[in-house]
Amino acid sequence: MASESHIQIAPSVLAADFARLGQQVKDATEAGADLIHVDIMDGRFVPNISFGEVVVDAVRRSTHLPLNIHLMIQEPDRLLPSFMKADSDQIIVHAEACGHLHRTVSYVKEAGRQIGVAINPGTPVSAIEEVLQFLDIVLVMTVNPGYGGQSFIPAALDKIKRLRRIIEENAYAAQIEVDGGIKADHTAQDSVRAGSTILVAGTAIFNVQESVSQAMTRMRTSIRGLNAGD
Ligand code: DX5
Ligand code: ZN
Repeated sequence: MASESHIQIAPSVLAADFARLGQQVKDATEAGADLIHVDIMDGRFVPNISFGEVVVDAVRRSTHLPLNIHLMIQEPDRLLPSFMKADSDQIIVHAEACGHLHRTVSYVKEAGRQIGVAINPGTPVSAIEEVLQFLDIVLVMTVNPGYGGQSFIPAALDKIKRLRRIIEENAYAAQIEVDGGIKADHTAQDSVRAGSTILVAGTAIFNVQESVSQAMTRMRTSIRGLNAGD
């Protein structure tokens, strides 16, 4: 069982104020974020376009934290080299977007980066079972990807529990990350209890109601004392 100290919070810069992106990333870093989650959307795999490599470089220059790069890109292979340039990156591809998932996973690992694979709410665990043993991260989408500020889909909790069981039974190393609709409430708590150890949060961390530091404190407090998989 992972302990509370192993639960990582990854603010998603998609919800940040892009007019002062560097400062917002610094605020999240100072407030105790563990990772910075960076959402790349191509307008094909998901209906929205976010930003590309130059913005990732700007985020890289604003923090020493690992970048948790979530590629919502159809056939990501052609763009992987440019997103793997920065040090200590975690690269996450979508199972649904890869024609040859095993090849893509191997490529990122051989390049010395951590590899994660994401699955949408409508995608079964079986879509990643054959590569699970090689993964550092499985990202369970708790909304349909493409936009911040959507509502958490509770049915994802059962998927997280099943994934957790498979990972434990086989002593695999993969961490379970959740992304979408995570707030400082039951959504964060239920995700941790189900077995997640990385919580992505966009609008819950970057919003006009409170400072990044206040938001991070509320998120940490909401999961205090909980263990992954309880
Ligand atoms: C959604 C993105 C998320 C998004 C989460 O497609 O992958 O990372 O930023 O935003 P919130 O936390 O507001 O749901
Ligand atoms: Zn994301």
